[in-house]
Amino acid sequence: MDDVYDASAPAASDRFLRDVLHGLSQPQKTLPSQYFYDEAGSVLFEQITELPEYYPTRTEVGILNQHASTIAEAMGPNTLLVEYGAGASTKTRILLDALTDPAGYVPIDVSEDFLLQTAQGLKLEYPSLPVYPIAGDFMVELGLPEDVAGTPIGFFPGSTIGNLSDEEIDKFLRAARSLLGASSKFLIGMDLRKSPSILIPAYDDAAGVTAAFNLNLLKRINTELGAEFDLGAFAHKAIWNDEASRIEMHLESLKPQVVTIAHRDIHFDAGETIHTEISRKFDLPKFLDLVGTTGWTLSDTWMDERDYFAVLLLSAT
Ligand SMILES: C[S@@+](CC[C@H](N)C(=O)[O-])C[C@H]1O[C@@H](n2cnc3c(N)ncnc32)[C@H](O)[C@@H]1O
Repeated sequence: MDDVYDASAPAASDRFLRDVLHGLSQPQKTLPSQYFYDEAGSVLFEQITELPEYYPTRTEVGILNQHASTIAEAMGPNTLLVEYGAGASTKTRILLDALTDPAGYVPIDVSEDFLLQTAQGLKLEYPSLPVYPIAGDFMVELGLPEDVAGTPIGFFPGSTIGNLSDEEIDKFLRAARSLLGASSKFLIGMDLRKSPSILIPAYDDAAGVTAAFNLNLLKRINTELGAEFDLGAFAHKAIWNDEASRIEMHLESLKPQVVTIAHRDIHFDAGETIHTEISRKFDLPKFLDLVGTTGWTLSDTWMDERDYFAVLLLSAT
């Protein structure tokens, strides 16, 4: 495998501490969701994708399997597949198996150890495929490694786009357009609006895996920043916000408490929450408004028969 390109600036832990202290100083305490994904968080996320309540992964995989050859044809030969938030690259394999002579694969992810393990596994499965992992934040301007060949085509599955605000989607799509170039296409998977009776259990499963995933963020802050969160004094909450059309994940303080992080005391009232993630449920016209003038236009849409999930192919304008 080619060397990993670490795009996560030298002082990643300084940035983590700064983001944590900033988020926990807001009137509604918050933590950026990208910090869920240390190695343990990435493993827990993979377990979530297997849960009976968690329909998104199964549904998106079904759509990709059903339309793989059409999608591969639209992407064309000699594709350099650039995947944002690659995780375990499970859906990638569906595309790689369908593409004609893919030129290479560029997985981008903040979860560096998990990224490297996945990239190594792919290299064994696809020995002739050049793999160029990039460890870093896809919200900042990234460059492609110099020695890549092929036509860059973006892939952003898993409805990770639903974790971004309107402003972040605008910034992200513009940055992706600039990275991928004028001949590019961008395949994006997104979860759609549906009944809260389906949505809530998907983010608050009976086995408690999503709760463990949410609480792992506090564990990570303890381990990496020397904080003293008592994990038993916070509880996972998943709330449907109908007006904003999103699931919100929170960690609720079960009692009044003070947590010290880097000599700063953070006070919590009983019932006060830390907002840890949004997971937006889109309707297509509203999403296309967001695509607006970002340098992309819609080429194709595929959905499952229940209209739970959509896979969109955008083309560079
Ligand atoms: C919801 S998971 C999706 C994983 C996989 N793509 C899938 O479809 O199952 C989100 C992935 O994006 C990564 N991620 C989240 N925020 C990121 C960021 N700002 N920059 C780079 N990777 C990020 C996480 O580490 C995680 O692997």
